Amino acid sequence: MNLLDKIDKNSLPKHIAVIMDGNGRWAKEHGRPRVFGHKNGVKAVRETTEACAELGVEYLTLYAFSTENWNRPRMEVNALMTLLVETLRKEISTLNKNNIRLKAIGDLEKLPPKTYKALLEGIENTKNNTHMTLILALNYSSKWEILDAVKKIAKKVADDEITPDEIKEADFVSALSTAGIPDPELLIRTSGENRISNFLLWQIAYSELYFSPVFWPDFRKAQLYEAIIDFQQRERRFGKISEQIS
Ligand code: FPP
Repeated sequence: MNLLDKIDKNSLPKHIAVIMDGNGRWAKEHGRPRVFGHKNGVKAVRETTEACAELGVEYLTLYAFSTENWNRPRMEVNALMTLLVETLRKEISTLNKNNIRLKAIGDLEKLPPKTYKALLEGIENTKNNTHMTLILALNYSSKWEILDAVKKIAKKVADDEITPDEIKEADFVSALSTAGIPDPELLIRTSGENRISNFLLWQIAYSELYFSPVFWPDFRKAQLYEAIIDFQQRERRFGKISEQIS
């Protein structure tokens, strides 16, 4: 039985989130500069997106650039921003062909103007697609997002739109940059690192975590299938006991 046949198509995660990690170490292993790893990471982005679309996963979120990544050497940051613009421009027609809608989360307005423009164009040009939503986390961090949500709600309180006692979980959820997007059931991190690194902290409260040893540029459909098969073997109890689930 091949890996794909082992996947139960009736209990797929609706939303998969991925911390794409290991580009730099992959490049080092190949004796090449870090940027070479990022360029090869785009192949894994393409494969993972295609695999999710083929399976019927409805949302795929990729952690492409964190608020902390600005601290990397300027040359690497510039190369990543250029790669993003190139990839966005090149892949929009493929997204449209496959009926995939592009979205982004993060402090987007602080991206370099060219990156921000290419991103907005990609979002606008794919906004009517309905098969799958690809969400890029760019200039994103969970602490930024949570603080931003708190500020939005504090403003409503200051404007007398709501009292502190009236604030409900749903109000907080709709102030997050993921408003309208269901929480991921499965979070994958590549490269053998077992960390969350400031990614979707609120949204992964009940997500299953899967750590793949593979560096991101080597991540292919087979590795995604393995993660989904592993996910499907787990019992998700949401605080209940086993007997209540079955
Ligand atoms: C992490 O590896 C990777 C990133 C911070 C960037 C990911 C970007 C891409 C794959 C390219 C473009 C993406 C899209 C969505 C078009 P790392 O550099 O932290 O690797 P290391 O931990 O081995 O140093």
